[in-house]
Amino acid sequence: MTDLFRDKAQGWDSRPVPAQISEGVSRTLRRAVALEPHMRVMDLGAGTGLICAQVAPFVDHVLAVDVSGAMLERLAAKPELQGKVSIHCQDILEEPLPDRVELVVSAMAMHHIEDTGALLRALHAHLVPGGRIALADLDAEDGSFHPAGTEGVFHAGFDRGALSDQLAEAGFVDVSFHDAAVVHRGDRSYPIFLVTATRG
Ligand SMILES: C[S@@+](CC[C@H](N)C(=O)[O-])C[C@H]1O[C@@H](n2cnc3c(N)ncnc32)[C@H](O)[C@@H]1O
Repeated sequence: MTDLFRDKAQGWDSRPVPAQISEGVSRTLRRAVALEPHMRVMDLGAGTGLICAQVAPFVDHVLAVDVSGAMLERLAAKPELQGKVSIHCQDILEEPLPDRVELVVSAMAMHHIEDTGALLRALHAHLVPGGRIALADLDAEDGSFHPAGTEGVFHAGFDRGALSDQLAEAGFVDVSFHDAAVVHRGDRSYPIFLVTATRG
């Protein structure tokens, strides 16, 4: 599989937009979900570990899942994540993880995964009973967030109502949307949500 983030990995952590989004998502996540020392957490589309770094200090362990070896190499090199994070370079839709987790977090990865229903069902299957998800992504936009023709972008954000229905279909309850960040570019604004839900 082509690593679509190979060229972006090196400079990812010095880009202002990922830094701004991960800051807003982490802040919103800490308010919406209690992170506890016994927890095993999956970060889906963990990238270079911007979200992992904010979650790992408060939980037992983070499983960093991503299909980009280049992004995960950056994550693996971070001294502050040593011993707290395990690396899983795989597509969980094709190859599930052996372990179940108490919480799945994700930032800006869902729009890169074509079949949202299949993804939500896979996340449900990876959770212990009563486990939770906290997934952040773009609200529905006009397709201008990414440059035209960007490979691997399957969704121009997500409509909250439609995503709520898909979460319910996948077996989640207690669905709740939170405003996590807004990216401003020229005269356009791109709001980002964090949706939390519980495995029913
Ligand atoms: C926009 S980046 C976000 C990275 C990180 N969450 C952050 O906030 O900085 C999207 C990430 O999702 C990953 N990704 C794309 N498709 C994926 C899939 N099917 N499974 C897991 N990760 C995927 C990409 O490789 C990339 O690292």
